[in-house]
Amino acid sequence: MKSALVLALLTLLPSVHGAPALPKRDGGNPPLRGPEDLLGYSPDNKLTGQTTEEIPYTLVPGQKEDADLGLYLDFSNNDNPQPIRGSLGGTDPGPRNRELDRQNSDKLAPPGTDHGQTINANWPMSLSKAKLGLDGAGWSRQENIVVMPDATKMAGVDMRLEAGAYRELHWHLAGEWSLVLNGSCRIQAVNEDGNTFIDDVTEGDVWFFPPGVPHSIQALDVGVEFLLVFDDGSFSEDNTFLASEIFAHNPKSVLSKNFDLPISAFDNIPDGELFIFPGTPAPEDIEEQNVTTAAGPIPRSQAYSYHFSEQPVHVVPGGSVKIVDPATFPIASDFAAAVVTVHPGAMREVHWHPSSDEWSFFIKGTGRATLLEAPSTATTFDYHPGDVGYFPKSHSHYIENTGDEDLVFVEVLQADRFSDISLGQWLGSTSKQIVGDTLKLPESALDHLKSEKQYVVAGSTDSAQ
Ligand SMILES: *[C@@H]1O[C@H](CO)[C@@H](O)[C@H](O)[C@H]1NC(C)=O
Ligand SMILES: *[C@@H]1O[C@H](CO)[C@@H](O)[C@H](O)[C@H]1NC(C)=O
Repeated sequence: MKSALVLALLTLLPSVHGAPALPKRDGGNPPLRGPEDLLGYSPDNKLTGQTTEEIPYTLVPGQKEDADLGLYLDFSNNDNPQPIRGSLGGTDPGPRNRELDRQNSDKLAPPGTDHGQTINANWPMSLSKAKLGLDGAGWSRQENIVVMPDATKMAGVDMRLEAGAYRELHWHLAGEWSLVLNGSCRIQAVNEDGNTFIDDVTEGDVWFFPPGVPHSIQALDVGVEFLLVFDDGSFSEDNTFLASEIFAHNPKSVLSKNFDLPISAFDNIPDGELFIFPGTPAPEDIEEQNVTTAAGPIPRSQAYSYHFSEQPVHVVPGGSVKIVDPATFPIASDFAAAVVTVHPGAMREVHWHPSSDEWSFFIKGTGRATLLEAPSTATTFDYHPGDVGYFPKSHSHYIENTGDEDLVFVEVLQADRFSDISLGQWLGSTSKQIVGDTLKLPESALDHLKSEKQYVVAGSTDSAQ
């Protein structure tokens, strides 16, 4: 170990070479390139005067345990976390980003069970450039295939509107599913038959706008933050159709003819996109904005919102789950989602989704997941609030709470029904003889397997267990 350390230091410290003096110009500033006699071996540039310096570090609980045990390593309060796991790895003198290493201990010191290179299944929105709205009205950040090339089926946006601010009237090619993360807003839309829709939604509610259906969003008095998920990984919020742009890019004579209005009616239209901009406050009474048309309102069965915040959670051993899918929210015909709460020490059990890729978003707490790609490639990822996760169809994964507060995340599928296959339920529902012959589990373990799906299993926060 010590000699490896010295070698690492040597390669990083060229200044200790007995290098010949560089030719200097009058001003004392050496030229951009060095002299030819630095090339290769010469008796003049042997390494001299090496000193060994110990790198100061401490290991965290679990770090010396067997690598295959793969305990979560909490580097959050460790000054100098090291890529060491069990008997594997070695010290890192740097260059490195210690803040990222602390947050991603499963990357710095992966469990011994990780193997090879999978797709990247984690994108922190903190690494996405924020698109800033006009006049302090809000912002948005997006994840799509540009940053997660394998997340082809869905893309997402985290958006904030300050009190009274709008996401302007617009439509897009993709279907838009949303979960309100904080605050509340008014949403409205008109469909192809001229049916109208308006509703107020709050933290925990969901909405859906089908492709091409024009809609707008306005924050109510406390402002709003919401998550948008699109049914196309190549979606970009920079490429939506905006009311401002359709007016800015059609001849004014055409607009005049279209609306049977004088040209002067268009003197003050915006000359480009508004996207996110301040507005006059929405009236408190939603009825004042409920436009009555001959076509009438969108029938309730086809409503664009679902008041998911009012749906009670379903309690499971290690936390709770609630599901919204087309069984209760039919207009979102391809969006099936589960909001999952995992208590400290507990874990969303090992599972996979047979009908869809999973796009997930971490709302609260910290967790980790191991993605398995057939046959034997596996990577463990660490997640923080604001991170996107992506698990392709039928690829197994779990989500373990790695912190001391509840972990909350949403799993979104492109499916007409939320479904998963649980590793535990599968084996607990299979003949003990078959499972025993295959996995060599003791009889007592076979007896312990459960045939009921757990969703979230309870567990201990004690990493030494
Ligand atoms: C919503 O935002 C407000 C203001 O930052 C904050 O006080 C509140 O805790 C947030 N609610 C949730 C559920 O995060
Ligand atoms: C809007 O008006 C229609 C009747 O035209 C009614 O069915 C609907 O519930 C109203 N919506 C709201 C949000 O008040």
